[in-house]
Amino acid sequence: MSGFPSFNYRNARLCGESVPLERIAQEFGTPCYVYSRAALVAAYEEFDAAFAGRDHLVCYAVKANSNLAILNLFARLGSGFDIVSGGELQRVLKAGGDPQKTVFSGVGKQPDEMRAALAADIFCFNVESEAELRVLNQVAGEMNKIAPVSLRVNPDVDAKTHPYISTGLKENKFGIPFDEAESLYAASKGLHNIRVTGLDCHIGSQLTDLGPFAEASEKMLGLLDRLENQGLQIDHVDLGGGLGIRYTGENPPRAREYVEALCAGIGPRKQRILIEPGRALVGNAGVLLTRVEYLKHTSHRNFAIADAAMNDLMRPALYDAYHEILPVHVRDDGSVKTYQVVGPVCETGDFLGHDRNLALSQGDLLAIMSAGAYGMSMSSNYNTRPRAAEVMVDGDQVHLIRERESVAQLMAGETILP
Ligand code: LLP
Repeated sequence: MSGFPSFNYRNARLCGESVPLERIAQEFGTPCYVYSRAALVAAYEEFDAAFAGRDHLVCYAVKANSNLAILNLFARLGSGFDIVSGGELQRVLKAGGDPQKTVFSGVGKQPDEMRAALAADIFCFNVESEAELRVLNQVAGEMNKIAPVSLRVNPDVDAKTHPYISTGLKENKFGIPFDEAESLYAASKGLHNIRVTGLDCHIGSQLTDLGPFAEASEKMLGLLDRLENQGLQIDHVDLGGGLGIRYTGENPPRAREYVEALCAGIGPRKQRILIEPGRALVGNAGVLLTRVEYLKHTSHRNFAIADAAMNDLMRPALYDAYHEILPVHVRDDGSVKTYQVVGPVCETGDFLGHDRNLALSQGDLLAIMSAGAYGMSMSSNYNTRPRAAEVMVDGDQVHLIRERESVAQLMAGETILP
């Protein structure tokens, strides 16, 4: 067993569903992201079922992985979407996503992004400041539209996660300060092209403890009651995303426990509940497949130099994140050494994993696990490295869902001075 559902060993060879990853490397080359359709569907269905009979909408956070095939798969399952840019809106529409199930988050929405979202009739704008609310009111007015709005409130809850991905503390740039929310909601009544429909928060990412979620939910429900007493009609409460996954030793709650913690205090309230999971839907449904180009043994250390790098998977370099690294073909003969698994990029920060015990030969394939979320979507072209191919396995089938980029594509928009 690999410990990762949908990626398991068969005869000592790591497979995505029924497809040996070796076959994918031969056919599509490396580095290559490999996703499992079954794992994506199972993750979505677990969240959806967790709400039992309650009115709800799961809005997949597109930023976690925005490949059209993945968006389309979730759209087919009935998912909504949480977008943070006009680009993500275009992806959702192109993938067949329903704008009426789409919420638009983010601190810096631009007027043309607002216009596109209003034209598409999205479900709700999650507005993060008074200034943004006023611009949205103006843009909607110019279009003769009424913008449906939730204010994203910052509940000042410590998510106890990596500081770079913690968003719900009052020192973070996100949301409207908790103690200013009521007055801004009241002020919104004077903005004629805004219709307040909901209430929103998001406290951080990769949370493995339910406490902060429960605390935020309780604060939001208290606020909800006060807003209703003000005479506002609030139809939905969006409690954001953030449920963590297992990268190595973590033991995150299941979707059901998470939803129970969010909904524990709701009681007889009838509002629709929205959540915006990203990582928990796609993280463990994907791996990054890479080949060991060279082994380099120095008196100090053993390096395995892979063909994937920080530009393909930025999380280790950026957050010192840990991803399991598994051999695609387990051999009993090789001698295990402790390796620094690194990429070819010219930075010491370019590593995929430190101090990994592996039996390796030149040319071996490795799978960087739990790479489905914030892997491809955060990749770059640093060192003029074309971005990896992406494939989806489905039973014994493999589908290319994004071609490997070419250097010509990278240079296409550039011109030399006359
Ligand atoms: N909703 C909002 C408003 C968000 O900002 C985010 C993530 C989510 C939902 C989805 O959170 P999730 O369920 O995926 O935790 N690049 C980082 C993660 C950044 C998360 C940013 N916001 C990483 O690789 O760990």
